[in-house]
Amino acid sequence: AALAAGASTLTFPEVPHGPQPGHAVAEGYDAQVLIRWGDKVLPGAPDFAPMAQTASAQAQQFGYNNDYQAFMPLPAGSTGSDHGLLWVNHEYPEAEAMFPGLDRKTMATALTREQVDVTMASIGGSVLELRRQEGRWQVVLGGLNRRITADTPMRIAGPAAGDDRMKTAADPQGTTVLGMIGNCAGGVTPWGTVLTCEENFDTYFTGDVTQGPEAAAWKRMGLTGKANHGWARFHDRFDLAKTPNEPNRFGWVVEIDPYDPNATPVKRTSLGRYKHEAATTALTPDGRVVVYSGDDQRFEYLYRFVSRDAFNPNDRAANRDLLDHGTNSVACFNDDGGVEWLPLVFGEGPLTPANGFRNQADVMIDIRRAADLVKATPMDRPEDVEPSPTTGKVYVVLTNNTSRKAAQVDRANPRAENRFGQILELTPPDRDGKPDHAAATFQWDMFIMAGNPADPSHGARYGEGISPAGWLACPDNIAFDARGRLWIATDQGEQQSVNGIGDGIWACDTSGPGRAVTRMFFRTPTGAEMCGPAFTPDDRSLFVAVQHPANDDPTTTYATPSTRWPDFQEGMPPRPSVVSIVKRDGGVIGG
Ligand code: FEO
Ligand code: CA
Ligand code: CA
Ligand code: CA
Repeated sequence: AALAAGASTLTFPEVPHGPQPGHAVAEGYDAQVLIRWGDKVLPGAPDFAPMAQTASAQAQQFGYNNDYQAFMPLPAGSTGSDHGLLWVNHEYPEAEAMFPGLDRKTMATALTREQVDVTMASIGGSVLELRRQEGRWQVVLGGLNRRITADTPMRIAGPAAGDDRMKTAADPQGTTVLGMIGNCAGGVTPWGTVLTCEENFDTYFTGDVTQGPEAAAWKRMGLTGKANHGWARFHDRFDLAKTPNEPNRFGWVVEIDPYDPNATPVKRTSLGRYKHEAATTALTPDGRVVVYSGDDQRFEYLYRFVSRDAFNPNDRAANRDLLDHGTNSVACFNDDGGVEWLPLVFGEGPLTPANGFRNQADVMIDIRRAADLVKATPMDRPEDVEPSPTTGKVYVVLTNNTSRKAAQVDRANPRAENRFGQILELTPPDRDGKPDHAAATFQWDMFIMAGNPADPSHGARYGEGISPAGWLACPDNIAFDARGRLWIATDQGEQQSVNGIGDGIWACDTSGPGRAVTRMFFRTPTGAEMCGPAFTPDDRSLFVAVQHPANDDPTTTYATPSTRWPDFQEGMPPRPSVVSIVKRDGGVIGG
């Protein structure tokens, strides 16, 4: 059925659904490639030379596989929307798509030392100064620009800092680690720092995972010891036999101050160690900070951290270590529509020495096992989780779970062999007219069950009046505009051609007649997932991250990619890139 006039606050015409080699944005908008893998980040960086890559060049250039982004206004603390910093995660390298002549299955032993070091320099994050002039965004090669890589020194803080299980030969104190790995999504704190989340760090370690004191922890975290990145051949810390504690130093949320290029990134171990997707924040009515995060793997959990102390809006430095003290909880979804937050505190309930926990460091390092013991609800791959800035309701994006059996379904994860994913809407109780994000119990409801509503076998559910191009599959990252409208990025993996739709951005209202009536706004090029939607404070610009273009088919090779987006030049590989979107008439994105 066609959307009734006025049923949605969104006014853009929808983008056609099918995957294409180029990107597309709704009519009336401009979508410009802002920065590509290999472009200069630091002043003085060399030009990108795809056939002559070096680690030292890559460490000054834009990294690979851009993911989460945050627009941080300049000057700091303002709501400026024409000048700012863009934080960008670089999640993971794909050596077979970065260098010619490699095969994914055999490259672990074929990569050269220089190539390995290029891949290590290609991940982490970037800070970019941006300016909008005459309607167009440009990267400024300014003094705040920064690259963070798999070699950048980081401080370890919170309950696991200095614990024996965090110590290595290179770091006998257990307080300093080199780099961050698998940074997928993230969030921004009320004091203007970025939280960036280590997700799939398990695939970089090599060795026999069945031996030694960490074997059970490796198993629970999914380490196989069969990394195909080749890092352990040149760097002992990725060799499990030589450095068995190194994996304990990854899988954390990292806090970074983008306004200070000399600030040391800090791994906040109070937030727990797992395959973090996002870390988004809210304030309780009494000013404490809440961080929501999900563990993106099939049958893993949704978590919430509540700080012990209150945020100080008048003294930025006073918030520096706020995230080191507080309580981490895990969600238990009840079929009666309640969600309980179960605290994960050493000595409480089953989290005792009798179950192998020595202290709070163990509870945070082995938080998955702690969550198993308190009987949290296994979810359909928690990706982004984010509170609405207008209502305080919290949206939990579950991307899919094709392994769920019919006997394992529950109300929050209601489909067996779930190929399409769902979005839950959590409602914290009201306290003095404000949402109490620290409450022990929330209510929850189903918001969207993704898939094609025209195919009853999908079991999809949206708001009334969705158009034929309005349905989506595998919701992943989300963002809210200042009016509280929800913008959803999708990641179908290699299912784009199976589902017959591209990945991209869909938007909908969360209340009124347009509630959960999604419309497609932007489409990625073939094989790319959509990441990192980020608005400027005035909602007049939207940045989106196009990750792994041409990764639609396992048979795609370096020589014959399914798209050479965004350059479309023979000899230039497809490049993950950030795209800036503005409305041609200068108006608010979405209308
Ligand atoms: Fe890196 Fe959960 O996606
Ligand atoms: Ca993701
Ligand atoms: Ca988000
Ligand atoms: Ca994903």
